[in-house]
Amino acid sequence: MKSAFLLIGLAWLASAFPQGGPKRLRARQSTSPYPVYTFDQKLDHFPNSTRYEPHTNRTFKQHYYVDNTYYKQGGPVVCLMSGESSAAGYASIAFPSGLLKLFLQEFNGLGIVLENRYYGASYPFNTTTTDNLRFFTTEQVLADTAHFAQNVILPGYNASLQAPEYLWVLFGGSVPGGQVAFAMKEYGDVFWGGFASSGLTKGVLGYPEWYEPIQKFAPQDCTASLNGIIDKIDTVFANGNANQISHMKSIFGLETLHENGDFAQTIAYPLGGPFLYPGATWQEINWDPAVGYSDFFYFCHNITNPDSTKNITSLDYALAPYTNNEPWSNLGNYANYIKQYLIPTCDGVPVNNSACFLQHNQSYWADTTNSVRRSYLYTMCTEMGTYIAAHQDKPNLVSRVLTPEYTQQWCTWAFPPGKHNKIPPTPDLARYNVYGGSNISAPRLALIGGEQDVFRDVGFFAVDRGERYSLSVEDAYLHPQMLIESGGHVWDFEALNKGDVWEEGREPQFIREVHLWELRVMRRWIEMWEGRKGGWGSKRDEL
Ligand SMILES: *[C@@H]1O[C@H](CO)[C@@H](O)[C@H](O)[C@H]1NC(C)=O
Ligand SMILES: *[C@@H]1O[C@H](CO)[C@@H](O)[C@H](O)[C@H]1NC(C)=O
Ligand SMILES: *[C@@H]1O[C@H](CO)[C@@H](O)[C@H](O)[C@H]1NC(C)=O
Ligand SMILES: *[C@@H]1O[C@H](CO)[C@@H](O)[C@H](O)[C@H]1NC(C)=O
Ligand SMILES: *[C@@H]1O[C@H](CO)[C@@H](O)[C@H](O)[C@H]1NC(C)=O
Ligand SMILES: *[C@@H]1O[C@H](CO)[C@@H](O)[C@H](O)[C@H]1NC(C)=O
Ligand SMILES: *[C@@H]1O[C@H](CO)[C@@H](O)[C@H](O)[C@H]1NC(C)=O
Ligand SMILES: *[C@@H]1O[C@H](CO)[C@@H](O)[C@H](O)[C@H]1NC(C)=O
Ligand SMILES: *[C@@H]1O[C@H](CO)[C@@H](O)[C@H](O)[C@H]1NC(C)=O
Repeated sequence: MKSAFLLIGLAWLASAFPQGGPKRLRARQSTSPYPVYTFDQKLDHFPNSTRYEPHTNRTFKQHYYVDNTYYKQGGPVVCLMSGESSAAGYASIAFPSGLLKLFLQEFNGLGIVLENRYYGASYPFNTTTTDNLRFFTTEQVLADTAHFAQNVILPGYNASLQAPEYLWVLFGGSVPGGQVAFAMKEYGDVFWGGFASSGLTKGVLGYPEWYEPIQKFAPQDCTASLNGIIDKIDTVFANGNANQISHMKSIFGLETLHENGDFAQTIAYPLGGPFLYPGATWQEINWDPAVGYSDFFYFCHNITNPDSTKNITSLDYALAPYTNNEPWSNLGNYANYIKQYLIPTCDGVPVNNSACFLQHNQSYWADTTNSVRRSYLYTMCTEMGTYIAAHQDKPNLVSRVLTPEYTQQWCTWAFPPGKHNKIPPTPDLARYNVYGGSNISAPRLALIGGEQDVFRDVGFFAVDRGERYSLSVEDAYLHPQMLIESGGHVWDFEALNKGDVWEEGREPQFIREVHLWELRVMRRWIEMWEGRKGGWGSKRDEL
């Protein structure tokens, strides 16, 4: 069951999806027509930095996939950073359809999916002990990408396709979207352009804003029900009466989860969160029903169901004695959803087991077997944060017992001090924010965001950054930005391609216009590239 848990940004992907991946992929997954290649990557790009002592000259096999179906000489190399997803999984989705393919088709590009160190098949070590993880930092990942672009001999080609002599454009969404932005900032002399979709460019400790789009855009009878129930749950927690707390948990069938945080996180699973959850949530909604999931809305239908039977609605009064006899509106519906739809996903494993919903288990986190969960947690614990958290002073969809300490405990258990490496007491956010945070900007870095994206507030379009407009037509191509109206997480990646049969309702105009804009941006960049030696493009670079 635990392997079915979803990590952020995997929504669009196969790897960890409980239902077996985006719908479209399930039909396709059986064969992988793309051969895998490896590149001998330096493990340590910073031989002079005390951060990586003792240094090593070792290399590891960085895996990558290539699609040259549409390539013609002169077309751009478009390199997708696959982040926490396996490159194999990403290639099997991004090559056959979507925005990457659109770029390749339109501009005779050569597509690459490049795996991230410490994910997929690109682990430098057989286990991820704290010491083995010491080369797993954002700056090393960025250096990998630059070193790869400058040194790879692509199968069937020669060194003339290397950056920066050849035109390379980076591409990525979610965490890799952030990495694309950072790489344009750090290695703008290597990469000519970068498309960063829903990029996590800013590190924060706790990230309660993950729930803001839900609070703001979901049906308000649903959110208000949850806000009211959460307030009452937190009242019972604050009262500290063990019998009342146990009774409250039992309403949801979760009385054996003794750790309050585990209970709070479990009842939050239908909503999701910035790290782990087992199903499809707000993040997995997509404009295209072929890849999106509506589970979140079904959850809300359950919460607000006016037709529930008496034995369910009567539970609204079960805990009233603990809260001045006020009923807990829709508690019965909420508890019924957890019991009827969430707990059965454990397939009979007791909820108080780490193979189900028990997180409070040191040996579970201390297991050094390589895994997506472990590598991703390491990045959170060391640089990025974005821990699950509630607001302390506003209505909440999740309980206030979910403070950053809840996730920090997992960090401490998972990564005890090694001989050469230890994690900081809380994430060293400055390491992640050094590239500019939500102010990030670089020439030919295109930033794409979603108005209703759960990760909006840790990216360029963070609500607290206000609105930012392009200053001129030149600026609109040199610093392109697009906030997708009513868009969610990485909503531009799904795209209809040349030759697709048009289905009524697929690719609504607000999405189609994003893709047309992205194609115009890429076209301008190619023109700038062609004119860069004293031509039209180079002048624009000085703007
Ligand atoms: C490390 O320092 C040496 C000696 O100062 C220098 O030659 C070398 O270029 C430096 N290497 C890197 C990767 O900065
Ligand atoms: C790596 O190789 C360089 C050049 O051969 C050498 O100077 C250096 O000492 C080596 N570093 C390590 C950690 O072995
Ligand atoms: C990893 O495990 C494989 C297979 O068990 C073994 O051949 C290899 O030497 C190990 N690598 C390291 C770095 O320990
Ligand atoms: C690389 O390949 C291209 C295209 O086949 C060819 O024109 C060029 O001469 C080759 N360059 C080298 C250095 O072999
Ligand atoms: C409750 O949620 C389940 C699972 O998503 C869904 O199948 C069902 O239709 C929902 N029930 C109601 C009453 O909306
Ligand atoms: C509520 O009662 C109905 C029939 O009256 C029954 O089918 C259902 O299982 C009961 N639900 C619960 C949660 O007890
Ligand atoms: C889990 O709950 C069951 C039922 O209450 C109990 O018998 C068992 O000891 C619990 N297991 C742990 C690890 O707490
Ligand atoms: C705690 O984690 C260990 C290691 O993964 C596992 O063997 C054990 O079953 C877990 N305990 C519970 C109660 O789930
Ligand atoms: C981002 O830019 C704004 C406006 O220029 C400034 O107030 C803010 O401090 C900057 N934030 C960061 C993290 O640099």
